[in-house]
Amino acid sequence: MKEFARKQRAENTVLGLVPTMGALHEGHLALVKRALRDCSSVVASIFVNPTQFGPAEDFARYPRGLQADTAKLNNAGLQTLFLPAAAEIYPQNYSTYITVEGVSDRLEGRSRPGHFRGVSTVVLKLLQIVQPQFAYFGRKDAQQAAIITRMAKDLNLDTEIVICPIVREADGLAMSSRNIYLNPENRKAATVLHSALQAAQKLAEKSHLDSLSLQHAARHVLDQEPRAHVDYVEIVDAKTFQPVANVSRPAYVLVAAKFGETRLLDNLLITFREDGSQKGVVTEL
Ligand code: PAJ
Repeated sequence: MKEFARKQRAENTVLGLVPTMGALHEGHLALVKRALRDCSSVVASIFVNPTQFGPAEDFARYPRGLQADTAKLNNAGLQTLFLPAAAEIYPQNYSTYITVEGVSDRLEGRSRPGHFRGVSTVVLKLLQIVQPQFAYFGRKDAQQAAIITRMAKDLNLDTEIVICPIVREADGLAMSSRNIYLNPENRKAATVLHSALQAAQKLAEKSHLDSLSLQHAARHVLDQEPRAHVDYVEIVDAKTFQPVANVSRPAYVLVAAKFGETRLLDNLLITFREDGSQKGVVTEL
C-alpha cells in the first residue's frame, strides 16, 4: 500500500482515504462517494481495529462481511480497497500509542476507556501508510471526528480531515454497523434518539440556546421510551467537547443510550449563520 500510494502521489494524483471497520452501509458509502468527487484516486480501508475495543466489548462478534462490502464498494465506483492484517498493523512488541488529551477525556472517552487511544493510533497509522491529501470521516461519531481533526493539526499532518453529514434510515435512526444487533422492538424504540434531538432542534431554531433547556427537551422525549437506557445527553463545544452553559459558538447536542446490549450514538450540530444582513441559528441533524 505504501508503494502504491507513493506512486499515485508521484503522478500528481489527488489521493483520498476513507477508513472503516466494514459492515458497510449508506453512511460509509456517502464518505466514499464524496471522496470520489473530490479526489482522482480513493483508497477505502476495512480493518476491525482490536485496540479500540474494550475487553467486554464486541470485537469478536463485530459484523464482518467482506463479500457484501466489496460488492458495495465496487458499485460505488471505488478502485482500491486496503485490508491490512492485524499482525501487520500491530506486530509483536508493538508499543506506540497516540493519546489526544482533553477532547478524548469525557463522554465516549469516559464510557469506553482506551477507545480513543485505539482510534487515534490506528487512524494515524493509516494516514502514515497512505499519506492522502484528504481523509473522510462521518459526523455520526462527532467526538471521534473532533479528536482526529485535533490530532492532524497537533501533529502537522499533511492530510486535510473532511467531516461529512450523518446518513439516516427513513425513520430517522442514524445508520450504524451496530444497528443489526437490535431486535425488532429495540430497533423501533431506537428512533427515540432522533426524536429527542428533533425536540432540541426545535428549541434551538427558536434561539433558545441555553444548554439546560436543550438538554431537558431531549431528556423529556427519551424518558418516554422505557427501552432507552440513557448514558448521557450533553451540550458541548464542537471543538473542545467541553460542556457549555449557553450555545454561542458551534456546539453539539450529543446523546448516547443503550437498547438492550447495543449502545447507540446520535447528535445535532448547532452553528450560526452570519452574512452581514442576517444572523441565525443553523441546525443539522
Ligand atoms: P466505522 O464505524 O466503520 O465508521 C467508519 C466511518 O463511517 C467513520 O468516519 C464514521 O463516522 C462514518 N459513519 C458511520 N456511520 C455513519 C452515518 N450514519 N453517517 C455518516 N457517516 C457515518 O469509525 C470507525 O469505523 C473507526 O473508529 C475508524 C475511524 C475506522 C478507526 O478504526
